[in-house]
Amino acid sequence: MTHPHQRLLIIDFGSQVTQLIARRLRELNVYCEIHPCNRVDDGFLADFAPQAVILSGGPDSVTRPGSPRAPAALWTLGVPVLGICYGQQAMMEALGGRVESGHGTAEFGRALVNAAGGPLDLLEGWFDAGPEQVWMSHGDHVSRLAPGFAVYGTSANAPYAITADPARRFYAVQFHPEVHHTPAGARLYANFVRLGGFSGDWTMGAYREDMIARIRDQVGTGRVLMALSGGVDSSVAAVLLHEAIGERLTCVFVDHGLMRLNEADEVVGMFRGAFNLPLVHVDAADRFLDALAGVSDPEVKRKTIGRLFIEVFEAEAARIGGAEFLGQGTLYPDVIESVSISGGPSVTIKSHHNVGGLPEKMGMKLIEPLRALFKDEVRALGRELGLPEPFIRRHPFPGPGLAVRCPGEVTREKLDILRAADAVYLDQIRRHGLYDEIWQAFAAILPMRTVGVMGDGRTYDHAVSLRAVTSVDGMTADYYPFSHDFLSETATRIINEVKGVNRVFYDVTSKPPGTIELE
Ligand code: XMP
Repeated sequence: MTHPHQRLLIIDFGSQVTQLIARRLRELNVYCEIHPCNRVDDGFLADFAPQAVILSGGPDSVTRPGSPRAPAALWTLGVPVLGICYGQQAMMEALGGRVESGHGTAEFGRALVNAAGGPLDLLEGWFDAGPEQVWMSHGDHVSRLAPGFAVYGTSANAPYAITADPARRFYAVQFHPEVHHTPAGARLYANFVRLGGFSGDWTMGAYREDMIARIRDQVGTGRVLMALSGGVDSSVAAVLLHEAIGERLTCVFVDHGLMRLNEADEVVGMFRGAFNLPLVHVDAADRFLDALAGVSDPEVKRKTIGRLFIEVFEAEAARIGGAEFLGQGTLYPDVIESVSISGGPSVTIKSHHNVGGLPEKMGMKLIEPLRALFKDEVRALGRELGLPEPFIRRHPFPGPGLAVRCPGEVTREKLDILRAADAVYLDQIRRHGLYDEIWQAFAAILPMRTVGVMGDGRTYDHAVSLRAVTSVDGMTADYYPFSHDFLSETATRIINEVKGVNRVFYDVTSKPPGTIELE
């Protein structure tokens, strides 16, 4: 099989930070894929045809019988191999060295590594200013080197912190160069890919060209239907598809009445105007809001919205005569298969269907042009495709929209108040230049009324809570530490400018234990 890019294979032994290895490599314009160790055998290796291989860390112990290994063919492939932590130990054990458990030499956290032995191509630029700080996390350690290996770095508790057999281009480190607590780690990866002969051919310009050719090939003379939410992923996927197949793409924007202020007009205006994208705008607000009347259970709300979405989408699809393909903005983190940490060979596959159930039900094939990309690569591709910068940097917005920011029953009155309060809050954030520091910020309307005093009168009005979080991937999050001045100015503006609100809270819950949304 021929592949359009030089490829690096990451064999995943289940480390929590394997994805970061891929991030570091992609930043170097190197195309890489992560595959779980129990899926990579000699045949896979031959088919993948990597130009270099990295063995990740992992929670197991190579001293345990049956613990995972790299396939035997790896050692005669003739390509550079870098073993990290568990990967180092698996390499050493496979090539005739020895690994032992514990005995007081476990290391967790920061450590200093000193240079040892002679110069090594992998370490160019390392140790120029003395010892290097690294991040260790290991219980086992190498106790005897495999034949051909020598030591190039040591730490207080890891005499074999950096080892290599330069003649065979096998490198093994005990620490994790991919985490930011190893500040010079990126340099190590840059050296590794250089000595693997990578030219840095993975750019968004090249990706765009490749993907357009692939989409044309896959779709042929067929038609693609796509649900466009206005989020970064579906927007970038739609523009790319449009570039590939033009009018044979139809996007459907379902306005469920749970959008933010002016959002539907902005999204539809941009795609129809600037991109001339074939777009069906379905105003289904009444249908959704009528169905949500009297519903206050969060799960019932979500299910109602999901069901209606599919019904509306299907009806629109039928109206335009259907299509053979369904476009989706699925990203790489959604499809990476991760090794089960709880042990055993079981593999957890994270599946992700933005419009769940639809492809099978409607007999459509999926087309997912962003499947190989991380979020920041999608943003880079969006820039490459000419999407406006504010659109690319937009905060994520949940599929069920404002419904999950309106605990209790969703009513039109509450939604109007929420939209107005949210607009003031985001205006404040933009005015203070904080938008890009925050992962996501929004207002929610709480299911209660509170007493206040305005002018000379008593009020009994709605309470709004504000949320702003920092996060990398939405899986964990911290609340954003606004200044007190910012908070009081924002609360004053909301109460003065939004009729029906007399109290403002700021939510300081992290995730976990909270979630980002209120429902
Ligand atoms: P939670 O509230 O689970 O949210 O901490 C994590 C991130 O996911 C978004 N979110 C959703 N996105 N459909 C979506 O497309 C949903 O049903 C949904 N629920 C939560 C949320 O906005 C945050 O960015």
